[in-house]
Amino acid sequence: MFNSYISKTRKSRVLYEKAKKLLPGGVSYAIRHFEPYPFYTVEAKGSKLYDVDGNEYVDFWLGHTALILGHSPPTVVEAVKNQLEKGTHYGTSHELEAKLAEKIVKFVPSAEMVRFTNSGTEANMYATRLSRTFTGRSRIAKFEGGWHGGYDALHTGVRYPFDVRESAGLTSGVLQDTIILPFNDLERVRERLMNEEVASVVIEPVLGAGGGVPAEKEFLKGLRELCDDNGTLLIFDEVITGFRLALGGGQEYYGVTPDITVLGKILGGGFPIGAFCGRKEIMKRIDTLLYERPHYSFHGGTFAANPISMTAGLATLKNLEDGQLISRLNNVGAEIRKQLTEIFKAEDVDVKVTGAGSLFNTHFTKEEVKDARAASRADKKKLVDYHLSLVTNGVFFLPTHNGALSAAHSEDDIEKLFSETAKYARQCKAT
Ligand SMILES: Cc1ncc(COP(=O)(O)O)c(C=O)c1O
Repeated sequence: MFNSYISKTRKSRVLYEKAKKLLPGGVSYAIRHFEPYPFYTVEAKGSKLYDVDGNEYVDFWLGHTALILGHSPPTVVEAVKNQLEKGTHYGTSHELEAKLAEKIVKFVPSAEMVRFTNSGTEANMYATRLSRTFTGRSRIAKFEGGWHGGYDALHTGVRYPFDVRESAGLTSGVLQDTIILPFNDLERVRERLMNEEVASVVIEPVLGAGGGVPAEKEFLKGLRELCDDNGTLLIFDEVITGFRLALGGGQEYYGVTPDITVLGKILGGGFPIGAFCGRKEIMKRIDTLLYERPHYSFHGGTFAANPISMTAGLATLKNLEDGQLISRLNNVGAEIRKQLTEIFKAEDVDVKVTGAGSLFNTHFTKEEVKDARAASRADKKKLVDYHLSLVTNGVFFLPTHNGALSAAHSEDDIEKLFSETAKYARQCKAT
């Protein structure tokens, strides 16, 4: 498979050799690397990526799952073009920030007030700080396999083994303040938090980097009650699930309302964004007109609420607001999970397909995948082979990460995913 990929991607290889000398690891984000080297995209339209060698890929990675309308959707491009003429970055107040905040408040059950950032990482960082401000507590908790970006306090317990530091440069002081909890196991969470006073518990309604594992509804409900009993704020990191599982994100999908919600990806319509929102009494702790130093919780940034991201976000939400697209994509997602399971089963390859709504993830394992531990026990080599087999044949996603659907995916695109998967499954059985 390596040889076939290499012979199709010669120009990419040259670009990669050059990039390796300039960017550590040759990439701008380690997860974008795969062996033998990543292909180099020159154009993206609809459901497709095109690389420098002229190869076409049906894209299920969708810019880290951000592009629910596909690449360069005409309505978003048009709106952004118009905005470009009026200014790229004001650094002042402008109406678009209130307009997008208004939409978030309308759609997201937990949102009464909003602040914008440039990334999900930043939004999680400020949300964590806000939870500490509001509760007056220092410690926080997150889940095994939970990915909330590279902010020190949350950059722990992401990959198995969960007790190995995720990065050098994290201080013991920071890490000691973060408790790592087992996912989908309420009893053990209750035990672990029994004698703790934590400011917040942050959870992804569906683990993203942790393997596309949905939280169980009863688990989320129990977690909500536990947080209420302990005076702890519940934070939903909906950077992936926001505007994807439902217009109101995972909280609408599960019927469980957190205190603070973190958003990103889809909200930016293909441009950099993050946001955090929640109840007024909590969000008001950011208000420097109400609270003096050191009682307010700082948030800000040069590009916060930049007009291009606001415009693209508004144009994107316009396409989602009647709920029809999300509901259609959720149905296709369910069908994909079912079909992929059947395709592997037909060839006696042990696979569990996880995900929810329009997200799907493939694990080469016999066991139920209910947490990131089970996901980590799956056969990684087979997953990497499956990935390279699909990429070589024009279907793209990143191994271990969620595949996602967009409005731009056609029946033929989905059919291609199935036929290439069937090809791999047959090959897998034969070896
Ligand atoms: C659930 C979740 N939270 C936070 C982040 C971090 O967002 P960003 O990459 O925009 O900083 C990500 C990114 O993949 C994510 O999936």
